[in-house]
Amino acid sequence: MEEVQYLDWNNSIQTLNKAYDAGLFVLIIGPKGTGKTSLVRDFAKSKGINLESINFSLRTRESHLVGTKTLTDGTVSFDEGLLVKSMREGSLLYLDEINSAEADVLLRLDEALDDRRQIALKESNGEVIKAKENWFVIATINPLTHSGTKELPPQLLSRFPVRIRLEYPPEEIELEIVKKHVSGEHDSEITHAIKLANTLRQAAAVEELFYSPSLRETIAFAKLLDGGMSPKEAANFVFGNVYTQWGDIEYQKVSDIITSMFGN
Ligand SMILES: Nc1ncnc2c1ncn2[C@@H]1O[C@H](COP(=O)(O)OP(=O)(O)OP(=O)(O)O)[C@@H](O)[C@H]1O
Ligand SMILES: [Mg+2]
Repeated sequence: MEEVQYLDWNNSIQTLNKAYDAGLFVLIIGPKGTGKTSLVRDFAKSKGINLESINFSLRTRESHLVGTKTLTDGTVSFDEGLLVKSMREGSLLYLDEINSAEADVLLRLDEALDDRRQIALKESNGEVIKAKENWFVIATINPLTHSGTKELPPQLLSRFPVRIRLEYPPEEIELEIVKKHVSGEHDSEITHAIKLANTLRQAAAVEELFYSPSLRETIAFAKLLDGGMSPKEAANFVFGNVYTQWGDIEYQKVSDIITSMFGN
């Protein structure tokens, strides 16, 4: 994947810097594809700190975080997980979609994230790991409307006292972001696609549609134009066809909007 510089349109980097200096952990809340991961990567890069990422799912186990005992050639050793590694190294730990983790996993995190910033490894003879001074943690959650997500328990929420909301950017800013990802000159078509995306996002927000396109879609649209595809065709591939998943009526609604914006 190409490295595109993050466009910090709502001063999130500054907020992250202030939180970092104060040693306050940060929670980023926002729907998919609003730049949460790019923001954190860019922040880590600007600070020159090492980034350790965990992508949570229902299958994430304590061992992923903390580590496991391994037996090689008759010797037992401890293979440390990313939580422990980042604490020891004082690196930036990125906990992506933390609200899809199971309760037992969250409990272990809770222990490490409390003010003492340490964790006892029952997996390694009760050894206690104390985090380095500059250890820092940023977590993300998708809003609750996102299927498959759970509410984060309040005590864990309180471990992240700084909360950044990342929404879809205003139209002209989205255009600027999309243009960072493509080389061609298609401002007016891309603006149309962003308007289309916003219409679909609004419809999804009031549950008239089942899917909300992200910045990934507006970027993909622009890339197809760069490759020589017509706007109407690109709009169908990127924005329209996905809705057939929910049947012809849902698809037709969107298809009509696309035709009204991009012609026949
Ligand atoms: N402010 C921005 N500047 C540059 N690129 C951006 C920005 N915001 C989003 N993007 C681009 O949009 C795409 C989606 O961004 P990213 O993966 O960071 O979103 P996310 O919020 O982490 O998504 P998810 O919730 O699905 O993990 C990427 O290609 C990213 O480069
Ligand atoms: Mg992400």
